[in-house]
Amino acid sequence: MKLRDRVALVTGGARGIGAAICRRYAAEGARVAVADVLEADAAALASEIGGGAFGLRLDVTQRASIDEAVSRTVATAGGIDILVNGAGIFDMAPLLEITEESFDRQFAVNVKGLLFTLQAVAAHMVERGRGGKIINFASQAGRRGEALVAVYCASKAAVISITQSAGLALIRHGINVNGIAPGVVDTPMWDHVDALFARYEGLPIGEKKRQVGASVPYGRMGTPEDMVGAAVFLASADADYIVAQTLNVDGGNWMS
Ligand SMILES: NC(=O)c1ccc[n+]([C@@H]2O[C@H](COP(=O)([O-])OP(=O)(O)OC[C@H]3O[C@@H](n4cnc5c(N)ncnc54)[C@H](O)[C@@H]3O)[C@@H](O)[C@H]2O)c1
Repeated sequence: MKLRDRVALVTGGARGIGAAICRRYAAEGARVAVADVLEADAAALASEIGGGAFGLRLDVTQRASIDEAVSRTVATAGGIDILVNGAGIFDMAPLLEITEESFDRQFAVNVKGLLFTLQAVAAHMVERGRGGKIINFASQAGRRGEALVAVYCASKAAVISITQSAGLALIRHGINVNGIAPGVVDTPMWDHVDALFARYEGLPIGEKKRQVGASVPYGRMGTPEDMVGAAVFLASADADYIVAQTLNVDGGNWMS
């Protein structure tokens, strides 16, 4: 049990990669706060995984919601040792058709929401004086642009940059900030991605998934479970000397 007696707040914890991390963190001995806009799903997952896990409604685009989720977690579990910033959304469009609304929505969740959740939890960790681990979900999309995906790619490049700055700012408090950059992972988000590619590239549903899976050097798309080893490692004492890095967990898609 690598996370025994730790308390972990996982945003976007109700489904996809976040849910797999919640399950595994609980199996590693952590008490998990499953935080998501999908409140009922978060509560259902929390009661399924047990170990004192609890669900929270959290909308990372609202400061008041972030503050409430942090204080409820501290009140319920006594403190926060680990934050996983998993909440994220995806949209795409040809460059000449990008709307302000789509830009604002993606940056509100993927960048602003991530930064201010990190800030709120880091403030608690600094005040408590016991350090902590913060893991931000970036993406291979943050490593380079894509013709149809300019805004999401930019939002994930921002996550990599915030991880560097926050990592440097917080390590003197014993708080490690690192990131994970998944490649292509078969989750509800990718069903949405596939449907959008189908629209913009005139593909049948499922074809983009097949194509991206076939092009991964490992030989297939990732599963949410493929992400959890890195998430446990970065949350554990084994990663104490790792600072401000974003780790590619992508079956070999990207090298940096
Ligand atoms: N699936 C992939 O291929 C892939 C690749 C690279 C990076 N990522 C990133 O990994 C993370 C998890 O992705 P996923 O595939 O599991 O996505 P998902 O859509 O399956 O799950 C994301 C979760 O975030 C929650 N969420 C969305 N907006 C929120 C908000 N405002 N406040 C709180 N919760 C909110 C959703 O309700 C959902 O439960 C995201 O940050 C995503 O950008 C995913």
